Parts: sequence; C-alpha cells; structure tokens
Amino acid sequence: MSAQHSDALVFFGATGDLAYKQIFPALQAMIKRGNLTVPVIGVAKAGWNLDQLIARAKDSLEKHGGLDPAAWQKLSGLLRYVDGDYASLATFQAVRKELGSSEYPAHYLAIPPMLFEEVVEQLVKSGCAKGARVVIEKPFGHDLASAKELNRILLAAFPESAIFRIDHYLGKRPVHNMVIFRFSNAFVEPFWNRNYVDSVQITMAENFGVQGRGAFYDQTGAIRDVIQNHLFQVLCNLAMEPPVRSDSESIRDEKVKVLKAIPPLSASNLVRGQFEGYLDEKGVAPNSKVETFAALRLEIDSWRWKGVPFFIRAGKNLPVTCTEVMGRLRKPPAVVREVTPEENYLRFRISPEMTIAVGTNVMAPGSETSEETVEMVASRHPRPDEMEPYERILGDAMAGDSSLFARQDYVEEAWRIVDPVLKASTPVYSYKPQSWGPQEVGSSVTPPGGWDEPVSSDQEDFRVAEQAAK
Ligand code: BG6
Repeated sequence: MSAQHSDALVFFGATGDLAYKQIFPALQAMIKRGNLTVPVIGVAKAGWNLDQLIARAKDSLEKHGGLDPAAWQKLSGLLRYVDGDYASLATFQAVRKELGSSEYPAHYLAIPPMLFEEVVEQLVKSGCAKGARVVIEKPFGHDLASAKELNRILLAAFPESAIFRIDHYLGKRPVHNMVIFRFSNAFVEPFWNRNYVDSVQITMAENFGVQGRGAFYDQTGAIRDVIQNHLFQVLCNLAMEPPVRSDSESIRDEKVKVLKAIPPLSASNLVRGQFEGYLDEKGVAPNSKVETFAALRLEIDSWRWKGVPFFIRAGKNLPVTCTEVMGRLRKPPAVVREVTPEENYLRFRISPEMTIAVGTNVMAPGSETSEETVEMVASRHPRPDEMEPYERILGDAMAGDSSLFARQDYVEEAWRIVDPVLKASTPVYSYKPQSWGPQEVGSSVTPPGGWDEPVSSDQEDFRVAEQAAK
C-alpha cells in the first residue's frame, strides 16, 4: 500500500535564510511539476503578516532561479502565515486552526536545532502532531550523545516512519546515480571490492570561505558540517552491498551496515586545518580551533572492503568547488613492457556537474612504446528542468518515501565513528586560502599515489570533451 500523501505543508522558519534561498524555489518547482497542490503554512516569529511573507517569497524566486508567473500565482494562493513565538502554545493552536480539515500535515522544521525540542512538544500539545510527518534539517545533534537525545525527543512524538531527516546531498541526482551505476552494470561489481580496489578517496572542495556564516560554522567545523553527513552518505553509496529489495528500508539497512563496519576514527588518521584569515570572520571566536578543512582515513571492516583504505577530505577556501570520488584499482604488472602501467580507476564527479568515468590504459597514438591513460566517460550535465535537491526531498517527504533520508540508527552510527576525534582536540594546522589544505596532510593522511586534484568545471568540460574526441 502506498503511503498517505501529506495534505498540508507547515514550515517553521518561513522568514529565514534557508526558506529564502532554497525552500520557495523548491515549492515553485514542485508546483510547476504538478507535485504541490496543498496549503503551505509558513510559521515564524517576525511580526509579519501574510502579505509580507508573500512579498518575501516573490523576492526569493526573483533572486533564485526566476519567477514563473503561472506557478507563482498558484503558490501565492496556497501560502498561509502564522506569526508567533515557538514558546507559546497559542502559536501552535493557530497553526492547527489554519490547518483546517488537514489530517496528514508535514511539519518542516527549517529552524535552529536548539528549538527542535520545544517545537516538537508544542506540536504534540496542540494536536498538530496527530497523523503528521516531521521533516528536520541537519545537524542532527552535535555528537553521539546529543543525537541520541534528539532522537529520543522526536521518537516520543512521532514514529520513525514519520520522521524525515534531511541530508540534501541525498537529493542530488549524481549521488543516487552512483548506486545505479554500480548495480546496473554487470562489469562494475566484479572489480569493485578488496581484490581489485587499492584505495578510494572522496574530496569535497569549496573555493569559498564561510560566507558570513561564521557564527554557525564556528560551532560546527568541517567534520560536523559535511563529513559526518554528506560525505558519509557518499561513502555508503560507494561501499554498500546491493539491497535485497528496492524499498526504502532495505536500502537504508545496507547503508547502516557500511557504517557499522567502520571502527571509530583515531586521531592519527585525521589532519585538521584552518584557512588563514578564518579568525577574522564575523562570529568566529578569536582563538578558534575549529577546522575549516579535514582529511581522514577510514577502513571498512567488511568482507568486501577489509584492508582497503578510504580517504575523505573536505575544506573551505580550496582551489576549486567540486565533490569527486576517485577509486583506484591495483596496478597491473609490467609484463608487456618494462614500465608498470598506471592504475585503472573509477571516477565519480558528483558536484557541481556529473561525470562518471573509467580510467583505462591504451597505446599512446603515434607511439609504439608508450601508453596513456584515457577515460571512458559516461557524463551528463544537469539539465535545466532537472530537480534540485530540495524539490526532490520535500516532495519525497510529503509522499512518505523515506529512501533519501537519514534513519535514526544511521545518524547514531555516523556520530559513533567521529565522536572520539571530535573530543580529542587534535592540532589544527593553518593553510593558505586557495590551497589544498595544510602541508601536514601530505605526511600523514595521503592515499597511495597521492590525492587526486579535482579540476574546475571549465577544466572538467574541457577534459570530457577531449576524451570524447579521442
Ligand atoms: C551544507 C553545508 O550542508 O552543504 C555548507 O552546511 C556547504 O557548509 C553545503 O557549503 C554544500 O552543499 P552544496 O549542495 O552547495 O554542494
């Protein structure tokens, strides 16, 4: 039986930054695709009225992707607004009143985590939680203990099947495409294991700093901000076994198994860095030891992966913006020539555009003696009408499909892995903006053969075009 579709969307934090940058554009896109026809109730404590919310939504669309007149007309007609303090039950009673005959609302908490508990309790007291789903934004806690506490609060009010923990990386099509590529191609799985794979590295590079989010970032750091969630999800898609069924729980079961097989991270397998100039950012503590860069080495002690090192690296103010995976295979022996061939590899470029490529060795054109590595490329750039992550995940949450959301056990396993290093106060080395992080990475956390250096989008376009021409 398919899940009941939510018959209203309530979103807390309607006047905030996330709503402005991501949610209104996602709602408009859902309307354009015919996926949103129910009331959308914005809630905030801003002293606003509905007209002000509508003006803000219009401005948001104009600044982020453009306003579609027909869809906007529908969206503005669906919008409602409740202004009030989250500490006051009256706010939630007003929400319940605005919900009218709705029996299956989805409550989306686009609010700071410290407000989750209060809002969840008020949802219950006001009757808004009945028949409802709750959708929450990361971070889900800031360590294992706080994540458990957050789960306790949520589970006291909602069953796990009604809780949708957003990790917008899962809404990215190329992240899902990794799973499709692995399990829909007969030639991939035979080599994608410890017998053939030498090492795997995942890089999430951003060529900008904290963009005015210093106060948030200084409580967070790279490990909590993107590694424990986004990059672990990427890791699971790379390392999971094929699910036994295609339902959301079977898929999520396999991801949790990957995390269960990873021992806690040790301090010797981590290098943290901070870009020069971070301490001058607004909202950052004068002596902050928060990392804007982290490189780490993990092992997955499963039958498939035992002995294969996995490296993860993420940072702000690096030379390019892109997320890329490089899985290197063992080198073939030099039997035909004296020179050992380069290793074959599988490259997944996830963001900002997608490339899936297999590195192979062939005779260099015009030469009898040398070889070159060329890529067999399966690449597709996002099309303009392709769903953005927030459109996909909000639509899925309202439809009750949990596949692209983090489950309780997943979140807790992910924290278990990083918890020891979060508490270990390992050194933070400084690095120059627009570099690949502190030099200490080179001496302690480096994949065999070195870190791959993902290129900019322009260079990637050039590289893919060049390969296609060969
Ligand atoms: C967010 C982090 O979750 O993901 C940001 O808080 C990061 O620091 C962002 O920049 C990256 O997401 P995307 O989709 O822009 O690659």
